[in-house]
Amino acid sequence: MSKLLIAGRQRLAGEVCVQGAKNSALPIIAATLLTKGENVIFNCPRLSDVEASCAILRYLGGRAARTDGTLLISCDDVCRSEIPDSLMRKTRSSIVFLGAVLARTGRARLSFPGGCEIGPRPIDMHLSALRGLGAEIEEKYGVLECSAPYGLRGAKISLSFPSVGATEDVMIAATLASGTTTISNAAREPEICDLADYLNKCGAKIYGAGEGVIVIDGVTSLHSAAHTIIPDRIVAATFMSCAAVTGSEIVLKGAMVSHLGAVIPVFEESGCRVTLSDRDVRLTAPQRLHSVRMIRTMPYPGFPTDAQAPLMAATCTAEGTTVFIENIFENRYRHIAELARMGAIVRTEGKVAVVEGVPGLYGTSVEATDLRGAAALITAALCAEGDTLVSGVRYLERGYENFDLALASLGADIKKV
Ligand code: EPZ
Repeated sequence: MSKLLIAGRQRLAGEVCVQGAKNSALPIIAATLLTKGENVIFNCPRLSDVEASCAILRYLGGRAARTDGTLLISCDDVCRSEIPDSLMRKTRSSIVFLGAVLARTGRARLSFPGGCEIGPRPIDMHLSALRGLGAEIEEKYGVLECSAPYGLRGAKISLSFPSVGATEDVMIAATLASGTTTISNAAREPEICDLADYLNKCGAKIYGAGEGVIVIDGVTSLHSAAHTIIPDRIVAATFMSCAAVTGSEIVLKGAMVSHLGAVIPVFEESGCRVTLSDRDVRLTAPQRLHSVRMIRTMPYPGFPTDAQAPLMAATCTAEGTTVFIENIFENRYRHIAELARMGAIVRTEGKVAVVEGVPGLYGTSVEATDLRGAAALITAALCAEGDTLVSGVRYLERGYENFDLALASLGADIKKV
């Protein structure tokens, strides 16, 4: 199991390209199940979660081949409708295949996706929404037996929470349902818009993605399309955290500035200067960050829960106290115990984490236990005194493409051991 050895107190400089968005690529790969012909997906990040989704597609009978950053997918020969537990468990996001398999084959059998490191990850909203479209779903012995014997039919769906995955599941399934579906209280994340853009290129009729109500007019079939995945706003926020915590100036190439609306003001409040051009973000950090009064994670367009951990790592050595409130996931503070081993002072009470800035952290061995927690530990290691050995790199590789090489290209002293 590889680990990362990071020598601290290295200033970063230069520019780095932002990879394609993991949370856009994953639902789009599932959505290709509904299409006929070859799809060309550009700017698709090389991630273990993407590989896991391609493995599911191949198991179902689809073809997925990668050349560089481009994924070629065709699902003409899809012949299965069940996904084995071994493949379901590789990534939480595999639940988004439910709507796609159901819409493509009229039935689906997959194991109940378990919880993960950041919480129990229930799927009640997915199931009640798909039942609203006419699916019959039975849950027994950890397996979901789903069928739509008379096809799926459009319905009015209202989500009790703007769940990203539930919105995607329903949107995909509704594209081939008979009649019109409306999703109220839909998630508004940029990845929802990217999925809608891709499906509309395939002939779907989806309106209002990115707003609270999405309307989908069902069509009889979808053709394939070429699509470029949007840049990953969480990876962009992570690079910004790495630059902020090391007093550096870097340029992010290819970031989508409009997706960072809740993130940029937080870095500015911490004392960073952020200058924007149409697809680049330049961040210039002060010698030492100021604390940020309050960071509440919220559904988009609020501050993204996925950026909470890396940003918390950056505030550990800020001057003053920063308060985080994690409103989205139940167990997303697991990086705190490891940051404390590096000298951070963070007190938690339920959803609230209070970070008391210290003059500096010191390197030691730490263990990542989830994807964004791994990014947080690397962020902290970059400014710590001495070397830090980070284990659990497999979590990092789920969502960050060659993160160690990207940081090394900015001047960090980081290597896989
Ligand atoms: C997506 O997860 C992302 N994953 C997550 O990114 C992201 O943190 C999350 O959206 C919120 O933005 C992908 O897109 C692959 P939700 P998802 O459904 O769809 C509860 C990362 O680090 N909920 O919006 O699972 C749920 O437990 C990952 O890249 C229900 O109660 O998120 C959570 O507390 C982590 N019932 C809240 O809603 C349901 O049926 C938000 O979940 C569904 C969700």
